[in-house]
Amino acid sequence: MSDKTELPIGIFDSGVGGLTVVRQIRRVLPHEDIVYLGDTARVPYGTKSPATVIRFATEDTRFLVQQNVKAVVVACNTASAWALPTLECEFQIPVFGVIIPGAEAALKHSKTRRIGVIGTSATIRSQAYNKAILASDANALVFSQACPLLVPLVEEGRLDDNITRLVLEEYLTPLMLNRIDALVLGCTHYPLLKGALQQVAGPGVSLVDSAESCAAYVREKLEALQLLARERQRPGTIRPFVTDEVERFGDLANRFLGSQTEQVWRVDLPT
Ligand code: DGL
Repeated sequence: MSDKTELPIGIFDSGVGGLTVVRQIRRVLPHEDIVYLGDTARVPYGTKSPATVIRFATEDTRFLVQQNVKAVVVACNTASAWALPTLECEFQIPVFGVIIPGAEAALKHSKTRRIGVIGTSATIRSQAYNKAILASDANALVFSQACPLLVPLVEEGRLDDNITRLVLEEYLTPLMLNRIDALVLGCTHYPLLKGALQQVAGPGVSLVDSAESCAAYVREKLEALQLLARERQRPGTIRPFVTDEVERFGDLANRFLGSQTEQVWRVDLPT
């Protein structure tokens, strides 16, 4: 039997945002090699229909499986919300999403069980976070809010200015009126808005970073499956692929990952 532990982990997202998940996975699993796919030709997923998101996520996963990865992490909240059950059925390797770990972390952070969830329109429409939270605690109250303007604001680098502040106030006010004490950041891009979000939400609200909780969950699951890479001298590598031109990826990657990546490759996905 071949040793799968040394194979890379495959991680995909609709674009560059999933690098926030890669960043957290590198922090907790520094020895793992990673193959990253950003479907930059078809981003955003958050405005698309469930059927389209499921089709795109299946194609993304197929590409990663062809790269001979040992497991796939669906970094994209929208794809996790709609496509995870399909991917788990269609592929023979472990597939992990961000919703269950985010929901579990929210329940850990909340004392009052009044939990807010923000995400793309498609993620909020799926109610995936609500269902996962209520499956663990039927007494929790979940209030969700679609925030379609936040992804473009983050990609434009408007992380903490007046426009972003106004938009956040508009989105968070209904949640604050519902007296939430924990807020799930249910989108790859939102960890970059943590400072502004905390200021608008106030100190009484714990921010739950789904990228962070996903990384801890992936480590736990790989360990249980005996798939963790051995510790070695060199740090793990990241091999990034995108479906649109590679130029824009570099600048954005720096912001989301916090460091430069190796050479980026453009690919056409198998359909
Ligand atoms: N990656 C997506 C998510 O986490 C945000 C960007 C998009 O809409 O594709 O939901």
